[in-house]
Amino acid sequence: MGGTLPMLNPPDHTRVRRSVGNVFDRNSLAGMRTSVERTTHRLLDRFEEELAYGPADFCALVSEELPIITIGEWLQIPRADHAFLRSLTHDQVYTQELFPTPSQLALSEESSRQLHEYFTALVKERRRRPGNDPVSAWLRVWDAQEPDREAADGAVYSLALFMLLAALETTSHVLSGTVRLLLEHPRQLNWLRVHPEQLPDAIDEALRYDAPIHMISRVAPEETELAGVTVRKNEMVQLMAGAAHHDPAHYAAPETFDIRRRPAHLGFGGGIHFCLGNALARMEADCLLTALLERLPGLRIGGSPRWEPRVAFRRLITLPVVRV
Ligand code: HEM
Repeated sequence: MGGTLPMLNPPDHTRVRRSVGNVFDRNSLAGMRTSVERTTHRLLDRFEEELAYGPADFCALVSEELPIITIGEWLQIPRADHAFLRSLTHDQVYTQELFPTPSQLALSEESSRQLHEYFTALVKERRRRPGNDPVSAWLRVWDAQEPDREAADGAVYSLALFMLLAALETTSHVLSGTVRLLLEHPRQLNWLRVHPEQLPDAIDEALRYDAPIHMISRVAPEETELAGVTVRKNEMVQLMAGAAHHDPAHYAAPETFDIRRRPAHLGFGGGIHFCLGNALARMEADCLLTALLERLPGLRIGGSPRWEPRVAFRRLITLPVVRV
């Protein structure tokens, strides 16, 4: 993970971030939206079929699927590999947890090894057979600026791997988390049905209320004074974004989920490391919630949701839903 964007400082960070290009600008997103909509409706068809027989798990059928299909199609990763990669990302995340157990760390190490193998092979393959895909495009950018072929491959490997890692659990959680919160607040859900143009605000409130990433880590490059506390050189600081989002000094009645709040939040981080994929995540959430509001009235929570017991990265494992 050493060469991945969040671990870099300028000037390396600037160089790598610039090399990504405008991958999720307005035009690119408009191009992706049709396919995200198609996938959304296909997933909801299956979800609707399951609902006819009783509780259906929104996580397994929809929110775990949409992000991997979206990013998988974008990176042009074979459909047959999607489930395997998704499961590796679930295990890999433990290295970034607050208090990982030795067995979680072992799981994470093994998944990192397999991800390394997979993405090294992917970069090699795109080098052999360049195409019209982001990995091939990054190889062209890096070849033009980096005479050392191995260094160029390494940079592209880190980019491709991190795009996948960054895009999956986070987006899944914003999809399942927003749906859970709306089902738990049926009056707000009904209001949203009449005011679908307010969906982006509802997504922002879900990002505030239950951020996918609760903790962002930094290492001090030198002794620093932070809010009256001395942080020594090389000391790690954890920014507890999830807690900040419930700070009564910043939000009135922070424990109230209120989709009309329009909150500023740290859900996508801030500064030079501000999330590069935030517009894509927002677009996926918008497509899914728009389709849900149009197609599936009468949804209710149909059992207890279950979470992965973690601090830094939120993951809803199951969200049983029924249709009444
Ligand atoms: C709701 C979904 C998402 C959430 C909540 C989220 C959250 C975040 C956060 C908090 C950071 C800052 C990390 C730090 O400061 O250390 C970040 C960075 C990043 N995110 Fe996201 N992310 C999401 C979706 C995505 C997607 C879909 C992609 C790509 C397809 C993506 C790519 C990135 C990248 C490349 C960075 C590193 C940026 C840098 O260091 O310059 N994210 N994200």
